Amino acid sequence: MSIRRIYPIAALAALTFLWGTGRQPAHGQVVPPAAATQMAVRPARDIPPGFDFPADRDRLQAAACDVRAMRLHGWRLFAGLTQPAEEGIPAFSTWYSKRQTLDMESPAFPALPFSLEPAQQLVSFRDGIPNSPPLVSVLFNRAAFEFIRFQRLHDKNNLKEMWNQQMMDVPEFPLDSVVIKAVWWPIRKNGRTVLPVWTGEGTRPIDCGVSGDMHPCHQGNDYSTWPQLVAIEPGGDHRPSYGTTEIDYYDVSTNVQTPSTAPTRRYSNVQVVSLDRFYYVPLSASDVSAYGARLSNFANLMHQIYDVRITTENLEEYLQGMILVGMHVATKELKDWFWCTFWWHVDPGSGPYAADRSDQVRGVWRHFRMDVVTDREAPDRGPMVAYNPWLEGAFANGLISNCKMCHQRAAFRPDYSFGRESHTVFRSPLRLDDPYYTGGSNPRNRNMRLDYLWSLTDIRGAGR
Ligand code: HEC
Repeated sequence: MSIRRIYPIAALAALTFLWGTGRQPAHGQVVPPAAATQMAVRPARDIPPGFDFPADRDRLQAAACDVRAMRLHGWRLFAGLTQPAEEGIPAFSTWYSKRQTLDMESPAFPALPFSLEPAQQLVSFRDGIPNSPPLVSVLFNRAAFEFIRFQRLHDKNNLKEMWNQQMMDVPEFPLDSVVIKAVWWPIRKNGRTVLPVWTGEGTRPIDCGVSGDMHPCHQGNDYSTWPQLVAIEPGGDHRPSYGTTEIDYYDVSTNVQTPSTAPTRRYSNVQVVSLDRFYYVPLSASDVSAYGARLSNFANLMHQIYDVRITTENLEEYLQGMILVGMHVATKELKDWFWCTFWWHVDPGSGPYAADRSDQVRGVWRHFRMDVVTDREAPDRGPMVAYNPWLEGAFANGLISNCKMCHQRAAFRPDYSFGRESHTVFRSPLRLDDPYYTGGSNPRNRNMRLDYLWSLTDIRGAGR
């Protein structure tokens, strides 16, 4: 075994830690974890005991059609992963980012507890979404991170070798693996921040033409089409109400796909809410500029929302920090993963997505609504719908999507590139002998399953 790298990481307490990258498994064999690597010494905090995590798989599977039981589990999970860790920040924010996990040639990481990128899921899909996809961070808990490193799932050459060995699947993740995708929104300085709020009603048609399992229409309900807004008061001084205000914002009814050039209209009665209703992370100019290219993502988003052009020079004048507005969560407690999703709401206490919220969910985290995947069948004989408005909301037919039906297609083949499969809304389960996996008549088109994790298609390591 060799320790290949020492990664200096400024994140959190400017700790320096090291991990081994393990040994190249010979002939697609799985290297037993203990022998493969020296463990990371880094305080990635686990979900503490008391939140039914990890649940007993048989018990959870037996409840897979029980909406209430699945919702309760989702809320408790959310409570667990948002518990303040010893550092006072939520446990999930100590987890490993996608780049930390998947990049073989690790960059020096800037001093932020998370990494931000435009949602990959939306980047590869230009039609029908706004210029600027929301910024997201994909984070792996310790179990998931260690497994990826042990099995070298971040190493393209290793995946190629497994594929050459005719493997149908990568090894399965351990039961206590958790992966999340958090969605962030920039908070401006000097003035109130506008935040669109998902009302639950699409403003564009769900169905504008279906052929087979493919949905060719390109009209999503991305955040630029949501008709409800709130204005966030930057101070955050615990006032129960700031009343309402008027805001000029683009007119969703014009259906223009480039909001910064769209006609605006006046929204009246916009509720003003205080920043302390959100999980807020302040950003300094050096935090953001340390991200280099990511500055342009902020810039695009800010330009689109406020029509201000930010640069490294004026950044501090305009940008104050980020708030978390949405979160996808997947845990390997079930063989096909347990899927749930959360989004901030100005009225978090009403409606079906507020139901069953556990008292263990505390503080700002009580401002979220939630949906969960169950094994129930929908009337169209497809799976029940579950989506996050910030992410799948942007897809055509996203409002009838289901996490599992899309993620079942996360797969590897040597010439793979993020393609249609990652953003087309499918509604049927795939059998193991589906040509998508087997390659049909052409075995070179075989897709090796990645245990449902799309981000593993985004490896940039050796072999690229
Ligand atoms: C139409 C396709 C699609 C649907 C539907 C979908 N996702 Fe994803 N998801 C993706 C893609 C593509 C990525 C990879 C994004 C990246 O790497 O930045 C992803 C990434 C994720 C991740 C990060 C881990 C990973 O590698 O997969 C989680 C967690 C996740 N999704 C959860 C969910 C949940 C929960 C739902 C349902 C509420 C859902 N997804 C619905 C396409 C989809």
